[in-house]
Amino acid sequence: MKRPSKGAAAKAASPGRKRPPLVDRVVELTELRRLADRREPVLALLYGRRRVGKTYLLDHVWRGHRHFYFLAADSTAELNRQELLRELRAMVGKTVDTDPANYPSWRTIFRLFADLANDEPLVIVLDEFQYLMAKEDDVVSHLVAVWDRELRGRPLMLVLCGSEVATMERLEAGDGPLYGRWNWAARLRPFDYLDAAAMVLDREPREAALVYGIFGGTPRFLATI
Ligand SMILES: Nc1ncnc2c1ncn2[C@@H]1O[C@H](COP(=O)(O)OP(=O)(O)O)[C@@H](O)[C@H]1O
Ligand SMILES: [Mg+2]
Repeated sequence: MKRPSKGAAAKAASPGRKRPPLVDRVVELTELRRLADRREPVLALLYGRRRVGKTYLLDHVWRGHRHFYFLAADSTAELNRQELLRELRAMVGKTVDTDPANYPSWRTIFRLFADLANDEPLVIVLDEFQYLMAKEDDVVSHLVAVWDRELRGRPLMLVLCGSEVATMERLEAGDGPLYGRWNWAARLRPFDYLDAAAMVLDREPREAALVYGIFGGTPRFLATI
């Protein structure tokens, strides 16, 4: 696919310029927004190494879309559910039951997501999803069950995002439990030279090349320069 940011990044790479808030990621941004506009069930997978810009991208996508973002922790399933419900309460208020006692499994949480998408489209992002996997309560099998049997066409877009590349890749694989259900899946890669240069627009091209040579294309490192 054509990447429209390339020419722009090259042309813009002149001293004194400030970098745009979101460098590159045009394809991912456009495709995710288009999916969120679909108003039907959408399952999306985004993975890539730490600091490559997954969370940052997902922070910039949902303009005008009703959405809820949850960052999973490397703790127990129960503690993650409790925290998720606490944060969800801030969004939905007291009109919806968010008492953890009533959500003893991931299945009940996915049912809640489906209910919340009943009247209005909803995007849910579960970040660092690998922390929810391989725990005592098998999150993926509960997701499959609700997705296949209970969603009934409701406009819920669920984005699973993760940094453990091998684990997340397995979710997409042919023998994985979610195989055939993904509407979108992508691995986010570090920036190439042109996009790295767009992160340091106030430098001369020669200096930008040096920066890329030293720091590579990892956005997190380029952002600190
Ligand atoms: N597309 C981008 N444009 C500009 N800065 C970015 C971009 N992607 C990442 N960054 C910078 O890198 C940092 C780390 O990215 P982050 O999304 O937290 O990585 P990940 O979630 O993959 O671990 C961000 O806080 C931001 O400063
Ligand atoms: Mg992240």
